Amino acid sequence: MADIPQNMTGKICMVTGASSGIGQATALALAHLDATMIIVGRSQKKSKNTVQMIKKATGNVNVDYLLADLSTQKELFQLAENFKNRYQRLDILVNNAGAKFVKRLETVDGLEMSFALNHLAYFILTMLLLDSLKNSNEARIINVSSDSHRSCPGINFNDLQSANNYIGKQAYAQSKLANILFTYELSERLKGTGVTVNALTPGGVASNFCKNNGWISWMKHITAHILALNLIGLAEAARTAVFLATSSEVMGISGQYFSKQKSIRSSAACYDKETANRLWRISLELSGLAEPSLSKINV
Ligand SMILES: NC(=O)c1ccc[n+]([C@@H]2O[C@H](COP(=O)([O-])OP(=O)(O)OC[C@H]3O[C@@H](n4cnc5c(N)ncnc54)[C@H](OP(=O)(O)O)[C@@H]3O)[C@@H](O)[C@H]2O)c1
Repeated sequence: MADIPQNMTGKICMVTGASSGIGQATALALAHLDATMIIVGRSQKKSKNTVQMIKKATGNVNVDYLLADLSTQKELFQLAENFKNRYQRLDILVNNAGAKFVKRLETVDGLEMSFALNHLAYFILTMLLLDSLKNSNEARIINVSSDSHRSCPGINFNDLQSANNYIGKQAYAQSKLANILFTYELSERLKGTGVTVNALTPGGVASNFCKNNGWISWMKHITAHILALNLIGLAEAARTAVFLATSSEVMGISGQYFSKQKSIRSSAACYDKETANRLWRISLELSGLAEPSLSKINV
């Protein structure tokens, strides 16, 4: 049985996509452990309701929300600014907000939605908050991926925005592979900074996932997990993220992929260093960011 500390008092934690599903369950569990919780949502109403629900359920008054549509780069930059204006450091960042899009959509920045929301938002938010993370004694970044990454043989750099022959399932799988490539590459670059980064698969859960595509798509998602006998509840789906955020067992552990609180091998495509490096460089270019300073001391 993995050990989970009884409290996270004084730890500042941010969870994206915390207005529902796995993110909300993760934020609730961390608030139960007395963390200072910042939930990130795109809907003011849902985010406010989540904050109220968590405060009521846990008695923790240090729960707040920040708003951003994470598919929009301008809002990601604003989110990071809003956070830094209020908090000196960040101890735990859980990049969780994500979705599958059956039909191809483009963001206001002209990027394909699965790539922009599921991968680039993780990348940009993490880059923008690196200084805040380095201000923590022992910061942890947790990237919520999916075992769906296994169905993607590699990143299609010839058509990164899936402009030709879009298949939602494939675009989703590619974005979840990108989560792990990003995790492994960032972990290498963070060596010596005291900041760790790991990825995870939460398991199959009947959240709001796929509802954006309509009820049939949602039912298909749930039915697939029921037939595979691997449908789990929200609290269980959040457990690996909570474990990675809190457990002393994973102190200093970085660049790994977790399932059910255990480090496991991800697909072979995740370990292609050239691909990870190329994705890193393209992600910087697409977000207009400079190579971050990864020294221990903020400069
Ligand atoms: N469900 C599964 O079986 C499963 C399996 C493997 C991996 N995952 C991963 O788990 C993560 C969470 O999924 P979930 O199952 O909890 O789904 P969910 O219930 O649909 O929750 C997704 C969260 O992301 C937010 N979000 C979506 N688009 C956004 C945007 N443009 N800007 C800001 N926030 C946005 C949603 O906000 P709203 O509340 O406003 O919609 C919601 O809070 C995803 O990364 C997914 O890939 C899920």
